[in-house]
Amino acid sequence: MKINYCDALVIGGGLAGLRAAVAAQKKGLSTVVLSLVPVKRSHSAAAQGGMQASLGNSKMSDGDNEDLHFADTVKGSDWGCDQEVARMFVHTAPKAIRELASWGVPWTRVREGAREAVINAKKTTITEDADRHGLITSRDFGGTKKWRTCYTADATGHTMLFGVANEALKHNVDIRDRKEALSLIHENGRCYGSIVRDLITGELEAYVAKGTCIATGGYGRVFKQTTNAVICEGIGAAIALETGVATLGNMEAVQFHPTPIVPSGILLTEGCRGDGGILRDVDGHRFMPDYEPEKKELASRDVVSRRMIEHIRNGKGVPSPYGDHIWLDISILGREHIEKNLRDVQEICQIFNGIDPADEGKKGWAPVLPMQHYSMGGIRTKPTGESQNLSGLFACGEAACWDMHGFNRLGGNSVSETVVAGMIIGNYFADYCL
Ligand code: FUM
Repeated sequence: MKINYCDALVIGGGLAGLRAAVAAQKKGLSTVVLSLVPVKRSHSAAAQGGMQASLGNSKMSDGDNEDLHFADTVKGSDWGCDQEVARMFVHTAPKAIRELASWGVPWTRVREGAREAVINAKKTTITEDADRHGLITSRDFGGTKKWRTCYTADATGHTMLFGVANEALKHNVDIRDRKEALSLIHENGRCYGSIVRDLITGELEAYVAKGTCIATGGYGRVFKQTTNAVICEGIGAAIALETGVATLGNMEAVQFHPTPIVPSGILLTEGCRGDGGILRDVDGHRFMPDYEPEKKELASRDVVSRRMIEHIRNGKGVPSPYGDHIWLDISILGREHIEKNLRDVQEICQIFNGIDPADEGKKGWAPVLPMQHYSMGGIRTKPTGESQNLSGLFACGEAACWDMHGFNRLGGNSVSETVVAGMIIGNYFADYCL
C-alpha cells in the first residue's frame, strides 16, 4: 500500500476544509486536502442565499452588531447551541467576510440613492445614504432582527468557494481529488490519518498525518428528499463513529428547508422570501400571516416548514403527481429584480420545471415543499474543533457538531460557519500539528 506523509490532513474539499487547510499551510505545515470531487464542485457551491455577518452597512441593517447576531443565533437554535461557540462565531464573521472580499469574492454592494423593494408583499422605497455607497450590502433572511445576510446575487456559495479554493492553490495546499476516505487510523485514543481509496485506480492508500480534520459536510442523503448533493452521505461522521472512540452529537437535529422545488428537491433560496417572495396555498391564498402574524414567510425556517406541512394537512396543499405542495410566488418582485438577484432560481425553475418565475400571476408560481437541508449534528467537538474523545481528530463545517446551531440553524449561518470555523478551528488544528 502506498503511504503518504504530511503534517496536516484535511478530509473534505468544500469551504470549511479549504479554509482550514489555508490556515494550516500558512503556518508552514505540509497540508493535504482530500476530496471526492474537484473541489470547486463541492456541495458548498450549492449554497445560494448568503452569509450572515453583522456589518450593519445598509439602511435595513443599520445598528446591527455582534450582540444582535448572537441573540438571533441563540434564539434560532431553540436555545440549544453552545453559547461560547456562538459568541466566537459572531465575533469572527465580519472579519471572515472582509477577508473573502480581499480574496476576490464579489459581494453585492450598497448603491446610493432610492431603490424599490418588496416588504410584506408591498412595494417600498429604500434610500441608501451616499456615504455607504460601495460597502458590502445585505438582504433579509428568516429569524433575524436586521438584514444581515451578505450575498453575491444568488450564487454566494459558488463565489465563496472559488475565492477560497484559489487562495488554497495560491498557498500551494496539496489538493487531491477523487479520493474517498474509508476509515481513520488511530491507536490509544489518538488519530494518525486515514485509509483512502483512489477513485480513479481503485487502489488503497494510507495518509499518515500529525493531525486530521474532517470537513466532509452533512448526511442529507440518508433522506429520500433532500437539497443535498449525492456526495453528502455523511462519510466523515461515519468513519469517526466507526473508530469506537470519537462520538457524534445531536444527530437527531435535522433541518428542513421550506422551499426546495418539487420534485427534484433543488434549493430555491431563502433569498426568494428574504427579497419579498410569498407562499400561497391551493386557493392562491397567502397563508403564512394567518400562522405567524409577525414574521410571516420570514419566521425561522423550521417554523415556516412546520407551518407549510400543517397547512397541507389542513387540506390546503396543491395536489400533484408527487404529492401535495405549496406555491412560492416571487413574480411580485418584478422581472428586473429576479434577473439580477435571483437568476439561479430563475434558471432552476426554467430548466427543471419549465416555469419562468418572473411571469406575472399563477403562471410564474413554483411548486415547493419542505425537504431535508442541513445536518446540525455531526462529530462532537470541543470549542477548539478537536474531537471530545479522539485526540488529533478535528472536525469543522457541517460534518461537525461544534454546536453553534443547537437544534435549528438560521439561514445564512451555514456558509458563514464554514469560513469562520475554517479560520478558528483551522488555527487550533494547525497549532496541534506544529
Ligand atoms: O436558502 C438558502 O439560500 C440557504 C441558505 C442556507 O442554508 O444557509
